[in-house]
Amino acid sequence: MWNTKLIFKKDGRGNLYVGEARKQIPFAIKRFYIISNVVSPKVVRGMHAHKKLEQAIFCLNGSFELSMDDGRKKWSIFMNNPAKGVLLRKKVWHSMSKFSKDCVTLVVASDYYNEDDYIRNYDEFSKLI
Ligand code: TYD
Repeated sequence: MWNTKLIFKKDGRGNLYVGEARKQIPFAIKRFYIISNVVSPKVVRGMHAHKKLEQAIFCLNGSFELSMDDGRKKWSIFMNNPAKGVLLRKKVWHSMSKFSKDCVTLVVASDYYNEDDYIRNYDEFSKLI
């Protein structure tokens, strides 16, 4: 498991969280995406692995559960702290579930969107691992 911790500054003006590429985020960031407005706690997102892409996942507001599987072991992390990110290396099957209604998730990625980099079939993932 690889975690990252953003620089966290708190004062009378609010909270500030900072991460820089190749520092707190161990790759050059080429893309980000945000997931919000997941209205049902039954929703499960993700359910795939990547051949080469690396990502760092943050929960900016609310909470959700991040489940991971590297082909040998499975583990889950309860995400509810904006300063704490999870680094999702390549070839890790992952899913996101149990979203709170107010959950806002930020994902930064090492490359542009490329459907060819996705492994969306678990059997295919198992064979690759
Ligand atoms: P999807 O992979 O199902 O999202 P999640 O992994 O969170 O469940 O993506 C939903 C749609 O959005 C799908 O048509 C692909 C598209 N998409 C992009 O065009 N660019 C992106 O960076 C991402 C993450 C998804």
